[in-house]
Amino acid sequence: MTATTDRVPLGPLSVSRQGFGCMGLSHVYGRADEAESLATLERALDLGINFLDTADIYGLGHNEQLVGRAIRGERHKLVIASKFGNRLDAKAHGRALDGRPEYAREAVEASLRRLDVDHIDLYYLHRLDPVTPVEETVGELAKLKGQGKIGAIGLSEVDASVLRRAHAVHPIAALQSEYSLWTREVEAEILPTARELGVGFVAYSPLGRGFLAGAEPVEEKDRRHQHPRFQAEALAANSRRRAVAEGIAARLGVSVAQVSLAWVLSKGVVPIPGTRHVAHLEANWAANDLSLDPATIAELEAAFPVGSTVGARYPAGSPPVPGLQPA
Ligand SMILES: NC(=O)c1ccc[n+]([C@@H]2O[C@H](COP(=O)([O-])OP(=O)(O)OC[C@H]3O[C@@H](n4cnc5c(N)ncnc54)[C@H](OP(=O)(O)O)[C@@H]3O)[C@@H](O)[C@H]2O)c1
Repeated sequence: MTATTDRVPLGPLSVSRQGFGCMGLSHVYGRADEAESLATLERALDLGINFLDTADIYGLGHNEQLVGRAIRGERHKLVIASKFGNRLDAKAHGRALDGRPEYAREAVEASLRRLDVDHIDLYYLHRLDPVTPVEETVGELAKLKGQGKIGAIGLSEVDASVLRRAHAVHPIAALQSEYSLWTREVEAEILPTARELGVGFVAYSPLGRGFLAGAEPVEEKDRRHQHPRFQAEALAANSRRRAVAEGIAARLGVSVAQVSLAWVLSKGVVPIPGTRHVAHLEANWAANDLSLDPATIAELEAAFPVGSTVGARYPAGSPPVPGLQPA
């Protein structure tokens, strides 16, 4: 069993092999029970997870407040990551993505208040602002770092050239982008660039928003109903591919979620799976101890060639993900 104190480098940071993605604790993929969410976060810390991922936009502030409650008394042991740039007041403001320096300053203060902490260890620009040059945003984040409000700078869903431009202004600690068996596009250019620059890579939605754990949306209020990959036809086509991972899981006597996570872990990146349930959390954490041999990795990759997944990653009209537009 992975020792609770095992840490891996993430750029200049030191984190547990898996982080914990908190988004789903704010009613994104079905309803989340507050008490169960807090119990799940508590168990995550008990297991030795020291890396919690949230964002101001998750639950419009609810998620950061929940994390703030969960980490009281434990904060000093933790690497807290949050994100800004997706405006919480997009409708009123008439602008969804905002990387302007003045908004960065405003957003960090609001996140610090909600999290009830005096600094955020890793602060990401959630999505590239198509208007504000990334250099300006990162320049301001560097100032916030100098003032001790944030510990390190991250970017989410940017392409290799933006990552290089940003990194030239101030070292970027981590890039967070979607990476899983059914979303492997980062392998071509983005992941190698992050490695070359010494930027840590955080794999979000490593379980394919539940699909690669064998879970599909059942509740009416679930954002995945709007996702092209979760439409009936796409699910049917993609399930044929998942069957290969399920076969491997049966052969190894583990769950398909564990096989999916073990594959991501084999890439030397830090996955941040999310769950509302302690049992799923414990099962996911146990994937740290599942080492897939090269033949099994090749079998999985043959079943999920890059670009083969049916359905776009995001609903039409979502903020763009530069360089990663799905087929
Ligand atoms: N930077 C970005 O733009 C961005 C975008 C999306 C996500 N993220 C971050 O990445 C984190 C993780 O991504 P995600 O939540 O989208 O997707 P994910 O971790 O790939 O999957 C989460 C889903 O899988 C289910 N699940 C988890 N473990 C399971 C298990 N062992 N067995 C069965 N089902 C299981 C969860 O349901 P249950 O709750 O029922 O377990 C949930 O519906 C988020 O929390 C967020 O912090 C970042």
